[in-house]
Amino acid sequence: MNTKGIILAGGSGTRLYPMTAIFSKQLQVVYDKPMIYYPLALLMLTGIKEILIISTPKDTPNFETLLGDGSQWGITIEYKVQDQPKGIAEAFVYGAEFIGDSQVVLVLGDNLFYGKLDFLRNAIKNNKGGTIFGYRVNNPGEYGVVEFGKNYEVISIEEKPKTPKSNFAIPGLYVFDNKVIEISKNLKPSLRGELEITDVQKEYLANGLLNVELIGRGIAWLDTGTPETLMEASSFIHSIEKRQGTKIACLEEVALNQEFISKEKFIEIVSKLPNSSYKEYCQKIISD
Ligand code: DAU
Repeated sequence: MNTKGIILAGGSGTRLYPMTAIFSKQLQVVYDKPMIYYPLALLMLTGIKEILIISTPKDTPNFETLLGDGSQWGITIEYKVQDQPKGIAEAFVYGAEFIGDSQVVLVLGDNLFYGKLDFLRNAIKNNKGGTIFGYRVNNPGEYGVVEFGKNYEVISIEEKPKTPKSNFAIPGLYVFDNKVIEISKNLKPSLRGELEITDVQKEYLANGLLNVELIGRGIAWLDTGTPETLMEASSFIHSIEKRQGTKIACLEEVALNQEFISKEKFIEIVSKLPNSSYKEYCQKIISD
C-alpha cells in the first residue's frame, strides 16, 4: 500500500508572538534548524517520499524557498495553501487530490519525535482504517485525550477536556486510510468553528476501525507551542547532538541513509551548502 505524507504547518502561532510576527511557528528555530526539518525527517525516516506541506497564504512561499521541490533529497514536496486555520482535519480536504488512493500519514509541523521510529513504521505497515497514538503526559488537558478500558480498548476520545479521563494525550501524528478524505469532507465544524481531528478519530472509532498504539517512554514527544516548551525542545536536541556528535533531522544525511540519493549526489549537495557547522557535519559523513 502506497503511503503519502502531509505536514500541516499553518495556523496563527499566536502563543509564540512576537516571534511569529514575521515567520510562522514551524519556521522557528529548534536549536540548529527550522522546526519543520524534524517532522520532515520523521516522514522520510519511515520511507515516505511523497509529501505535501499545507500552510498559510503568507508562509507557504517561505517553505517553498526553504525546502524547494524536495528533489535534492530524492523526494517530492508539493505545497497547498490553507486560506484560514479552520481545523486540522481540513488537511485531508485540501490534500484530497494529493492523497489520491493512497493511505496517508499526517504530522503536525510543530510536533517533534525522537527515538526509535518502529512504532510508526509498524503502524504504517499494519494500518486498517486509522491508527493514532497514546503518550503519557503530565498535562493531558492540553491535547486530544484517549480513555482506555480494562483491556486497553478505547472508550472515549476528547479534545482538550477540562477533566481528562486519562493521562494519555494523542500526539499530532496520525495514520489513516483513504476514507479519511470522505470522512473529513462530511465533518461539521465544532463550536469553535474548526474541523476537529478528534472528530475524524471518533468516526473511525464508531466504525470499529480505530487502532490506538501506546508509545512508551523510549520515545520523546516534544511540544513547541510556547516560548518555554520551544526552548526546552531546543535544549533537548542540543544535549543529544552534543553528546553523540550527531545531528537529529539532518535531511541530507537522512536522504543518504534511506538511499533516496546516491553518495555522489550527497557529495554534490554538500559541496553547495554554505560554510557552517551543518556543512562540516555533512562533510564528516563523507570522510567517515
Ligand atoms: O499536538 C497534538 C495536538 O494537536 C492533539 O493532541 C490535538 O488533538 C489536536 O487538536 C492538536 O491540538 P493543538 O492545540 O496543538 O492544535 P492547534 O490548533 O495548535 O494546531 C496544531 C498545529 O496545526 C499548529 O502548528 C497549527 C497547525 N494548524 C492548525 C489548525 C487548526 C494548521 O496548520 N491549520 C489549522 O487549521
